[in-house]
Amino acid sequence: MTTEKVAFTGVRQTLLATLYGRALDSRSRLPVLGDTMAEEAVHRVAYDFTRFRISEGEAVLVAMRGRRLDEWTAEFLAVHPDAVVAHLGCGLDCRVFRVAPPAGVRWFDVDYPEVVELRRHLYPGRPGYRLIGCSVTDPGWLPDIPRDRPALVVAEGLTMYLTDAAMETLVHRIADHFVAGGQAVFDAVSPLAIRAQRLNGILRTTGATLTWGLDDPRRLEGWDPRFALLTETAAVDLPWIDRLPARYRAACRFMRLVPPLRRLGLLLRYRFSG
Ligand SMILES: C[S@@+](CC[C@H](N)C(=O)[O-])C[C@H]1O[C@@H](n2cnc3c(N)ncnc32)[C@H](O)[C@@H]1O
Repeated sequence: MTTEKVAFTGVRQTLLATLYGRALDSRSRLPVLGDTMAEEAVHRVAYDFTRFRISEGEAVLVAMRGRRLDEWTAEFLAVHPDAVVAHLGCGLDCRVFRVAPPAGVRWFDVDYPEVVELRRHLYPGRPGYRLIGCSVTDPGWLPDIPRDRPALVVAEGLTMYLTDAAMETLVHRIADHFVAGGQAVFDAVSPLAIRAQRLNGILRTTGATLTWGLDDPRRLEGWDPRFALLTETAAVDLPWIDRLPARYRAACRFMRLVPPLRRLGLLLRYRFSG
């Protein structure tokens, strides 16, 4: 088994933390996501993952977010087996393998070129699947993706690292490019989470900075009327809370009662017309 060296810093390093979270979840007796490929990848990357000090509870929270976005992806593909999927800021996430899309789907994983290069060494290819090494703030990720099929744009752990202007541009570009319309599903954090980011151990370890907080999910509709909010779910309302250790379960129950805390992390699903 070959081992891959990584020298990522800042936001690129955060993908190792979420990968490790999924690996830890897969080791548990009753995993939320059960991503065994994440566990295999952790063993093939020469990196001391323990420096993130990810607790069991944090690992379950990462897995819960991933599971909900997997479900929304699978729901869209069940209705549109001829869709294109653009998975932005994919990092080393194995969504394409977990969801196992129907044969007619074309799936594009997009991240910075050096991240995509590492993916190529770690994971196998599959029919209908392609990697695009490009920043999502650069329009260069779009031209190779077919425009005339229903599109699902999925992003996990990405939007909080973008700026407000970059998010608005992204929203317009998605609706401009995918003329057959589709859905965009992603997670976002609130402005309060941005202000409280010093409490986040993964950010302290990686030196990454959160930059985008969303107060009102309807804001995207104001940016571009082709976007319409379909579903808004608070992370603390996800159904796998009972898999969390007791301390985390209690914290989630408390957060549910305090509106600004309840909205620290959101999972959002939009419809967009082309
Ligand atoms: C917290 S990690 C999440 C990775 C993956 N989605 C997951 O859940 O494991 C953030 C990811 O966003 C990527 N990213 C951040 N800014 C980006 C940009 N402008 N263009 C492309 N990828 C970006 C990083 O390289 C990294 O892979």
